[in-house]
Parts: sequence; C-alpha cells; structure tokens
Amino acid sequence: MCCIVLIGYRAVGKTSAGRLLADRLEYDFVDTDQLICEMQAATVAEIVEKKGWQIFRRYEEEALRIAVSRPRRVISTGGGAVLHQEVFEQIRRQNFVVWLRADLKILEQRLAMAKEGERPSLTGASIVAEMKDVLEQRTPLYRRFSDLAVDSGKLDIDSVVAEITTAYYAALSTKT
Ligand code: S3P
Repeated sequence: MCCIVLIGYRAVGKTSAGRLLADRLEYDFVDTDQLICEMQAATVAEIVEKKGWQIFRRYEEEALRIAVSRPRRVISTGGGAVLHQEVFEQIRRQNFVVWLRADLKILEQRLAMAKEGERPSLTGASIVAEMKDVLEQRTPLYRRFSDLAVDSGKLDIDSVVAEITTAYYAALSTKT
C-alpha cells in the first residue's frame, strides 16, 4: 500500500493529524490544498474568487493525482476532495484512506473561529450555515471511500494518530 490519505470535512484536523502521523511514521507529508496554492501561486480564497469553484476543483483533481504518485506519504486532502469520485475509486484501491470526523457542534465551533476570508463559502451561505447541508451530501462519500473512520472530536491528536497507525499496520498485511 502506498500512502495514507486523510479525508473529512473542513476543520476536522486533517492537517495537524497528518503532520504528526507523517512524523511518527517517517513518511513525507503532503497537503493537497498547499500543493494547489504552490502550483497556482495563490491562496485558495484567491483562486476561488478569481476563477471560481469549478476551476479550483480541476486543480484539486490534479493535486490529488500528483500527491498519490509516490509511496510513503501521508496526504491531507481538502474537505471536497471526495467529490472526485473516479479518482477516489483508484486511490482507495492502493492506499489506506482515513475519514476524520467530528460532531457537528465541534465543527461549528471550530469554523466559527476561522479567520475572515480564510475559508471561502462553498454555497454562498456562511461557512457555518452551509455545513449541515454540505455534510449531508458528502458523508456518504467519506464513508464509501474510507478504510477507517476516526472521531477527531472525541480523541486528542496523539490518540488519533495512534489509532490510525495501528489500523494502517494491520491493513498493510491484508491490502496489496
Ligand atoms: C474545501 C475545503 C478546504 C479547501 C477548499 C474547499 C471543501 O480544505 O480545499 O476551501 O470543499 O470543503 P480544508 O478541508 O482543509 O479546509
């Protein structure tokens, strides 16, 4: 199995857990949002403002393909990465995919604290108001594409990483 890929909604802690996990496993860490921003020399908000979500999603698909092109990586993805269903069908076959989830209330609190303009709205509504609807749409995808679900709202980051590590090593012996 090549990489560990973290999926899940905004503010669920993919980047923080991904960095620590990569550190523990001595894998490289790749954040697909960061990759997009580097390739476009712009922030996510700037890309969305200038080019719109459709173009952002195109960049995101490319970033996902690049991210999984090398083994021994922990890859943190954007909350909407699972919308690329064809790509994820492939990703799931050769990688270990972890869905980080947390209760709505916790995500609401975290998103309410986000800096103005840092996370552009996906629907035109406020990022807290839109969350329930967007989550409803995406939850079946997070479930379908993941090998493991971990509740990052209930566990501290060390426990999240420990749980992923144990499950990953167990899966290594069964998944090719
Ligand atoms: C998005 C989540 C963001 C980023 C972009 C779109 C989404 O990533 O990719 O703003 O569609 O949920 P994070 O999940 O890291 O915030």
